[in-house]
Amino acid sequence: MKLMITGGAGFIGSALIRTLISETNVYIVNVDKLSYAGNLESLAGISGDASYVFEHADICDADKMQALFKTHRPDAVMHLAAESHVDRSIDGPDDFIQTNIVGTYSLLQASRTYWETLSSKKKAAFRFHHISTDEVFGSLGAEGLFTETSPYQPNSPYSASKSASDHLVRAWHHTYALPVLITNCSNNYGPYQFPEKLIPLMILNALAGKPLPVYGKGQHVRDWLYVEDHVRALYRVLTKGRVGETYNIGGGNEMSNLGVVETICSLMDELLPRPEKYNNLIRFVDDRPGHDLRYAIDAAKISRELGWQPRESFATGLRKTVQWYLNHLRWCERVSDGRYQGERLGVISGT
Ligand SMILES: NC(=O)c1ccc[n+]([C@@H]2O[C@H](COP(=O)([O-])OP(=O)(O)OC[C@H]3O[C@@H](n4cnc5c(N)ncnc54)[C@H](O)[C@@H]3O)[C@@H](O)[C@H]2O)c1
Repeated sequence: MKLMITGGAGFIGSALIRTLISETNVYIVNVDKLSYAGNLESLAGISGDASYVFEHADICDADKMQALFKTHRPDAVMHLAAESHVDRSIDGPDDFIQTNIVGTYSLLQASRTYWETLSSKKKAAFRFHHISTDEVFGSLGAEGLFTETSPYQPNSPYSASKSASDHLVRAWHHTYALPVLITNCSNNYGPYQFPEKLIPLMILNALAGKPLPVYGKGQHVRDWLYVEDHVRALYRVLTKGRVGETYNIGGGNEMSNLGVVETICSLMDELLPRPEKYNNLIRFVDDRPGHDLRYAIDAAKISRELGWQPRESFATGLRKTVQWYLNHLRWCERVSDGRYQGERLGVISGT
């Protein structure tokens, strides 16, 4: 199978490519514009593989997307390219509208134009798999779980742009019969995540003896999904999922942000002890505007229909993650191009 993966130089995309190259026979075309979040360092181990090629391109460039489909003639697309950081979407929504909505539209159009040229057998086998987030469903209270039928209630510019892209993908299926799949997953964590996101930021700040900023009182709850569990779920959906369906993917690991930071501190106390406990670095800071209280996924459908289960608990996955960052400080230095220095993003002045 020849697979076009967009956003393959990012956190989840690179994990997907590393896993598929080592565990399957797929040929991969990685389409990525290398934004601040995309880095080929994350693919250094497989970049010379005969089953892999990199195309430096922006998914918003409609002509380029059409040309890439003509050149590579993929059997399926896994669409991960996106602007992905909620705090950045508060500071500057424009890139989110462009990449997440306009870019998804241009990719859908290029896929459809190409798909219509295929033989009926190849047409039936083609898949457009859109990778999305549970944030499209808004916020939960203390009880309940998001299911595939939860209503869309996005609250941030990021989640609104991802919701729009989900709707476009759905419409291209219902209107043009493009064989699509949609997955909505919870918060991913693991190796190679850009150090602006909660877990790597806390590990690196703790290492540097810097404050560990926790938004509000740290009571916001997320369901944590180890990235390698996620990419196996994605491949399962791509190869076995029912066309036109949506699948929720979650790790079954709910934890408050404060709980996450305290667990990281205990792991650091054990793995890299220093005279003072790391949790003395915790500082409560102003909350994120419009911060969703709780996300939690009901992953029963993917488990029941496709037999997928996460392998990692939060305890085992977080230990692996902390250990990985401590062993890969050079990667962290090299992916930070100097523009991002761990500072607070997503604060609206005057609030
Ligand atoms: N990380 C999470 O916890 C999480 C949770 C749910 C859903 N998702 C979704 O999964 C996907 C991947 O997330 P991630 O965390 O790996 O993101 P990321 O920010 O680490 O990577 C995004 C990648 O997309 C590329 N990209 C951005 N704009 C592009 C454009 N216009 N053209 C081509 N490439 C472009 C970047 O260079 C980067 O390599 C996203 O669609 C995101 O919405 C992520």
